[in-house]
Amino acid sequence: MVLGVLGSGSGSNMQAILDAIDAGTLDARIALVLSDNPDAFILERARKRGIETGVIDCRGFKTKFPEEAQLETADRLRAAGVELVCLAGFLRLVKRPLLDAFPDRILNIHPALLPAFPGLESWKQALDAGASESGCTVHFVDEGMDTGPIILQESVPVLPGDTAETLHARIQVVEHRLYPAAVAKVQQSL
Ligand code: GRF
Repeated sequence: MVLGVLGSGSGSNMQAILDAIDAGTLDARIALVLSDNPDAFILERARKRGIETGVIDCRGFKTKFPEEAQLETADRLRAAGVELVCLAGFLRLVKRPLLDAFPDRILNIHPALLPAFPGLESWKQALDAGASESGCTVHFVDEGMDTGPIILQESVPVLPGDTAETLHARIQVVEHRLYPAAVAKVQQSL
C-alpha cells in the first residue's frame, strides 16, 4: 500500500506509521509527504528517511486550502503512485477537488472521541466542557469538519489535574498506536 501524508506540524503520527512499517506490523510505504508549512518538522522527519517531500502553496491564505492548491496536491500524490492519503495534523479543510481525486481514500486522525469535540484543540474543548473522558478517532474524510465515517477510536480518561498539555500528550500516545492500526484495517478491507 503506497501512502501519501499531509501534515502541518510535528509529524509524530507520521513517525508512528513509519515505526509500524519498520516493525513489520504495517505492510506499506510512504512515498510522499506534503506540508502547507515549509518549516514543519514533519518535512524534516521525512527528509531524514529519504522520503520525497513538498510544500503546498496555499497562495497566502492563512487557513483556506484553495482549489488550485488542492488540484496540485492531487496531481503530486497521483504522480507518486499514492493509493491512500493520511492527514496527520493537517490544519486545512480538504474539499471537493482533492476528495474527488481520492474517493474514500483519505484518512484523518482527530484527538477526540468523535462526534464529540470536532475542530481545533479538541483536548482543550474536552477540559473546558468538564468531560470525564476524551480520546482519539481515525476516520474517513468527507466534506464536513471531522465528520466522516469512523474507522477506529479509543477513549482516554481525563484525569484530575490534567492540563491541555498533559491530556494532549496522553491522547497522542494512543494516537500513535491507533493510526497505523487504522491504516492496516482499511488496507484489509480493500
Ligand atoms: C494530533 O494530535 C492529531 O490528532 C491532530 O493534530 C495532531 C498532530 O500531531 N489532528 P503530529 O503532527 O502528528 O505530531
